[in-house]
Amino acid sequence: MELAAELLGARFKNPVLLAAGTCGFGEEIQGVVDLGLLGGLVTKSVTLEPRRGNPAPRVTEFRAGMLNSVGLANPGARAVLAEKLPWIRDHLDGLPVLVSVAGHRVEEYWEVVETLEPGPGFVGFELNLSCPNDARRNGLPFALDPDALLRVVSGARERTRRPLLVKLAPNTADWGPVVHAAEEAGASALTLVNTLPGLLLDPRNRRPLLGAGAGGVSGPALRALGVYAVWTVARMTRLPILGVGGISSGEDAAEYLLAGASLVQIGTASFWDPRAPARVVDELRRFGISQGVHRVSELVGAALPPPEPEMSDPAGTRDGMGASGGDSGVIHG
Ligand code: SIN
Repeated sequence: MELAAELLGARFKNPVLLAAGTCGFGEEIQGVVDLGLLGGLVTKSVTLEPRRGNPAPRVTEFRAGMLNSVGLANPGARAVLAEKLPWIRDHLDGLPVLVSVAGHRVEEYWEVVETLEPGPGFVGFELNLSCPNDARRNGLPFALDPDALLRVVSGARERTRRPLLVKLAPNTADWGPVVHAAEEAGASALTLVNTLPGLLLDPRNRRPLLGAGAGGVSGPALRALGVYAVWTVARMTRLPILGVGGISSGEDAAEYLLAGASLVQIGTASFWDPRAPARVVDELRRFGISQGVHRVSELVGAALPPPEPEMSDPAGTRDGMGASGGDSGVIHG
């Protein structure tokens, strides 16, 4: 089965990427994960200034998944421009890389995009508007506020010609307003979903298990929410969707594709087993062959009800074969 996908002006050799926050900037996992087998990666979220992150413990496990509150620890935009992006250019040999961007303020997203825009080695930006661990914003991510989202994405759009992905949150009853704000602001694609806010306590000492208190739930518990989000949003937009949340097998990945995702991202499974992403690629190929599928794009959206006439997709954006993110599909570096 042909696994390659053309999307956002880049060629992904297969639709399986590593999710933001799970692979640093590539360098950190080199030698542990065979990046050459993967479709691409999304970097750790980059803020304007370096961040040390939250107090330990930052990660804990439970039966249905993982809870984290890392606190967006990262070296800051200037160090990423000077050190991380050149390393990516020199070592990742054309692997499509998306740089995740985070911030406390609307303007911080713009400043990070502006700082990194001249850098080499990456295809586009994924705006992380949905981190549940950003205490200084009182737990209300930009992704749940359509007006704030519109401002962040519009300002970022003015500062880059590269594809702009918008990463949304799972905890909403209505994605419509934020999806339409992202479209209006010039987003090239959506990533669904980030972690879900959660809390685990140690019943003996009556304290939260994580140093920061609450955190974000990922892993198997998130899969049904993520697939639902993709399946729901895919029917309200023509933007390509990257699906993430609880994928640990080829059939999990296929589920997201069938729900309307063009690419998928793997997070928690790669913490538990660094070989999981490559195994997912292999299992997806085998699954497709067992189903008589010739190209992975045949799976994309195949579980969705037939589109309304006005939602038809003449440009072929969703299967990735015609998409370039509009005029934002430029590849730099
Ligand atoms: C973190 O660094 O706390 C997690 C980031 C995220 O979930 O977006």
